[in-house]
Amino acid sequence: MANKNTNLHKAKKKRFDEFYTTYETIEDEVSHYREQFNGKIVLCNCDNPFKSNFCKFFLKNFNKLGLKRLICTSYEPSDTIQIDLFTSIYECSNRKHGKILDITEIKNGELNISDEFVENYLQTSGVVRELEGDGDFKSKECVENLKICDIVVTNPPFSLFNDFVLEIRKYQKNFLIIGNQNALTYKDIFPLIQNGEIWTGYQFGEMKFRVPSDSEPRSTRYWVDETGQKWRSLGNAMWLTNLDNERRHETLKLIKSFNPEIHVKYDNYDAIHIRNITEIPFDYQGIMGVPITIINRYNSEQFEIIGEANHGSDSKYDIFKPIINGKEQFKRILIRNKTI
Ligand SMILES: C[S@@+](CC[C@H](N)C(=O)[O-])C[C@H]1O[C@@H](n2cnc3c(N)ncnc32)[C@H](O)[C@@H]1O
Repeated sequence: MANKNTNLHKAKKKRFDEFYTTYETIEDEVSHYREQFNGKIVLCNCDNPFKSNFCKFFLKNFNKLGLKRLICTSYEPSDTIQIDLFTSIYECSNRKHGKILDITEIKNGELNISDEFVENYLQTSGVVRELEGDGDFKSKECVENLKICDIVVTNPPFSLFNDFVLEIRKYQKNFLIIGNQNALTYKDIFPLIQNGEIWTGYQFGEMKFRVPSDSEPRSTRYWVDETGQKWRSLGNAMWLTNLDNERRHETLKLIKSFNPEIHVKYDNYDAIHIRNITEIPFDYQGIMGVPITIINRYNSEQFEIIGEANHGSDSKYDIFKPIINGKEQFKRILIRNKTI
């Protein structure tokens, strides 16, 4: 039974892995970092060159951004079939190959590259070939691409997000990737946020994604468009990056003054509970427990992140379980105003 539950849990997690990013989501975000792409090698390592809008975006904008090289690789996991030969179970693996597109120039430096050109280029120029292996981002041949690239840009599988970030960090690469805000408090990600090594991008919250045709219908955040394409949206999506952006240097305007009636203390820790970011007082010197969305407004010159208040046990950063009048509260990020 335990095994069945684990498999079900894994299958559920994997369903979130097949969320395909829209062209506009990528265009809107990259527009904030244009100069940082100039002369760079971009790697999209969870991206089928024929299907991914990351690949399409960087092909169309290869010359405008002044890219040096673009590498896109896709993952094709092997099918494992179980054959029961009179109660002896044999596993048969049908080994598949991922795909790779690897270019250093396109269309003689022309700035405006059309959708039609890109489509034709992918289909007829033989520019996409097979990888030796399945295209797993941790496979040897894919890691070789990671080693030589400057910036990784993709929407990686949500279920492998922690590993994916660790892998990029291992090779000290820049990145601009899509994830779920829950990842902000993962044990390997939170310390990087706290230490100001990584931060969020511009789009934080609503994001819509194309999903495969066999996706189950849902009552919320799911629709089918007039072409029959299925869609899902997430209310807690985000871009995560270590490319500098203006947003992280903006000062959050604070308009409320400290009021002990509103800004109540936790039962079990010397910090005040802040229900909403707009309620952060400008004149409180101590520790404040604020909603996790603060991370998208966090300016390390204005605030210091002390830790988180979640289960009170997960890691050394998870300082206490937030409780007020005996009632458990939703997780909070603990901050202190550095400017007062
Ligand atoms: C959230 S989807 C996004 C796809 C594409 N990057 C996009 O945004 O449209 C994540 C993709 O990662 C691929 N993937 C899953 N496991 C992988 C692995 N170990 N290595 C590389 N890619 C993987 C999945 O096949 C899936 O297409």
